[in-house]
Amino acid sequence: MKTKLLIFGISGDLSRRKLLPALQSIIRHDQFSDMEIIGVSRGGLDLDELLGNTPELQERTSLFSMDMATLTEYDRLRKHIALKPEEQLLIYLSVPPVATRQIVSLLGEAELNTSNTKLLLEKPFGVDLASAKAMKEHVDSYFDDARVYRIDHYLAKEMAQNIAAFRAGNALFSHIWNNQAITDIEVIASEKIGIEGRGQFYEQTGALRDVLQGHLMQLLALVLMEIPGSLDWNDIPKKRLEALSQLRGANPSLAVRAQYEGYAKEVNNPGSLTETFVSVELASDNPLWRGVPLRLVTGKALETKITEIRINFKKTHDAQANRLVLRIQPNEGVEIELSAKKPGYEREFEPRHLAFSYPKDAILPDAYEQVLVDAIRSHKSLFTSSGEVLASWQVLQPVLDAWEMENTPLLVYPKEASIAAILSQSQG
Ligand code: BG6
Repeated sequence: MKTKLLIFGISGDLSRRKLLPALQSIIRHDQFSDMEIIGVSRGGLDLDELLGNTPELQERTSLFSMDMATLTEYDRLRKHIALKPEEQLLIYLSVPPVATRQIVSLLGEAELNTSNTKLLLEKPFGVDLASAKAMKEHVDSYFDDARVYRIDHYLAKEMAQNIAAFRAGNALFSHIWNNQAITDIEVIASEKIGIEGRGQFYEQTGALRDVLQGHLMQLLALVLMEIPGSLDWNDIPKKRLEALSQLRGANPSLAVRAQYEGYAKEVNNPGSLTETFVSVELASDNPLWRGVPLRLVTGKALETKITEIRINFKKTHDAQANRLVLRIQPNEGVEIELSAKKPGYEREFEPRHLAFSYPKDAILPDAYEQVLVDAIRSHKSLFTSSGEVLASWQVLQPVLDAWEMENTPLLVYPKEASIAAILSQSQG
């Protein structure tokens, strides 16, 4: 089936950094070579400058200039697309959240929501529980949910997909995946970069909404969810939702909110309370996870770029190693920290690692390639359902409320700080 891909926001930051390179790579790999790409713009956009030297994209991409706030313009767009029954249309909204609402209704009113049309939405899906519910109802009134694809690109990272595969495929993990063996779980996404010129977006977002609410909650769900006897990938969204629904509301007194030095100046808002670092501690009501603290931490301008899940096991004596690491990026893989005998005449222990990593020449598809390919093929398991979005906001809403109401302290940390240093600062 031929795909026509309509991109709103084709000149934006996400499109330039992720979407267009992903499309180029997909086409280079001989996938969907009859795809047609139409970028919607307000006019004045230079397509050659936007696409650069990318023959694969140049030969199949065109621009359609329109006023995105006027219904008749969408009629003109529909006629321009001229979708045939044997074709499918993917509408990708890579626009600020305020624009999404209006574009969705105008698309619907102009009947660009037919049964061979899919709507791809970028996060954030709302800014809190109430706005996410309102957005869901709004989208539901124009598009059938089965044809709405909510992108959380962390779900599509190769190692994130491997969490379910490792858990399902290895008896070793299934026996110890509970509170009998595990003391606590940490999901960490530490970034070296700051906000990189996205000040306006970030001021309204902050680390909790930008990364923790979606990306980290989804990784946590993949760790906590029930793995059915034999893994059916299509069941995974339902299982993730169950896991998210079993989480209790976050306790605001266990949350840490911090901002890197110089941020307020960078965004030209001296009184900014936007957090560039957040840590929350969650708990699950699932009997398998009762009593296991679940810590989620993310921040910008930190000492390292690393996303990983650390599963810490109960020790039977103090000197034991006890950690399994699922490393999402970089150096994707799985690592088990071990304590081994140090070679030599003495009877001493030393730390060692048992590691799975991908071969050096393995090419892991970028997460955006994966989401595009899956959306084209109608595979929904790597997309966030509206239920998951709402469950995640529900868990985090108490922290948002507390930050709104009280004057919760905002720590300031130096750039390149370590997570441990910020957390210990919060306790001192
Ligand atoms: C995005 C956030 O969703 O994820 C960014 O908006 C963040 O602030 C990015 O930097 C991180 O993604 P990745 O794939 O680079 O880890």
